[in-house]
Amino acid sequence: MNSGAGGGSGGGCAGAAARSRGGSPGGDGFAPSALGTREHWDAVYERELQTFQEYGDTGEIWFGEESMNRLIRWMQKREIPLDASVLDIGTGNGVFLVELAKFGFSNITGIDYSPSAIQLSGSIIEKEGLSNIKLKVEDFLHLSTELSGFHICVDKGTFDAISLNPDSAIEKRKQYVKSLSRVLNGKGFFLITSCNWTKEELLNEFSEELFQLQLENVDTALS
Ligand SMILES: C[S@@+](CC[C@H](N)C(=O)[O-])C[C@H]1O[C@@H](n2cnc3c(N)ncnc32)[C@H](O)[C@@H]1O
Repeated sequence: MNSGAGGGSGGGCAGAAARSRGGSPGGDGFAPSALGTREHWDAVYERELQTFQEYGDTGEIWFGEESMNRLIRWMQKREIPLDASVLDIGTGNGVFLVELAKFGFSNITGIDYSPSAIQLSGSIIEKEGLSNIKLKVEDFLHLSTELSGFHICVDKGTFDAISLNPDSAIEKRKQYVKSLSRVLNGKGFFLITSCNWTKEELLNEFSEELFQLQLENVDTALS
């Protein structure tokens, strides 16, 4: 498994202000936050769904437009085939799925544990006239279906959010890595965009379960 790390600039950042390097009650440097809870994201996407229905506004793109372009440029540079299976973990409004499909990727799946997020993604995808994108309400920490063998797994802000869960965040992060090792093809790529973790910390967090981890900074690879 390979991993690319996208930096976090522009757009939102789940918990940019919530990480306290000085240490938290959990002792891992993360101050628990509502951003790590399902209730928070349900409320966010219920609101965004309503806004989309009323005004056609797709809502927030985490880390900004450029973060999506950067990931797609990296996939292009790496010559990832357009029929490669791609999983967007915690897809939110699904706008990255739309960008992938417009670029030509044909085997795309988005999951999110918020039903409103999936409903919003579905509405945006429909409005864009795209039909070949799979969407599923799915908690990545408690996978219910046989999601496996993906060539590319993308995370833009979801691991950041999970890291801020007020309840057993360390165990949840471990479960995240386990779930990732289940869904990702052994020779696949994991592309993570984070504003709370450094490259070294991510390597450390993911390498226990995923032995052949190589980390490449997307920005460096593109320069
Ligand atoms: C910071 S938002 C990012 C959304 C999207 N990736 C983007 O770039 O716009 C974090 C997303 O992760 C989702 N999420 C958090 N924990 C999750 C979990 N355990 N399983 C699935 N989705 C999760 C939230 O519902 C939310 O949509």
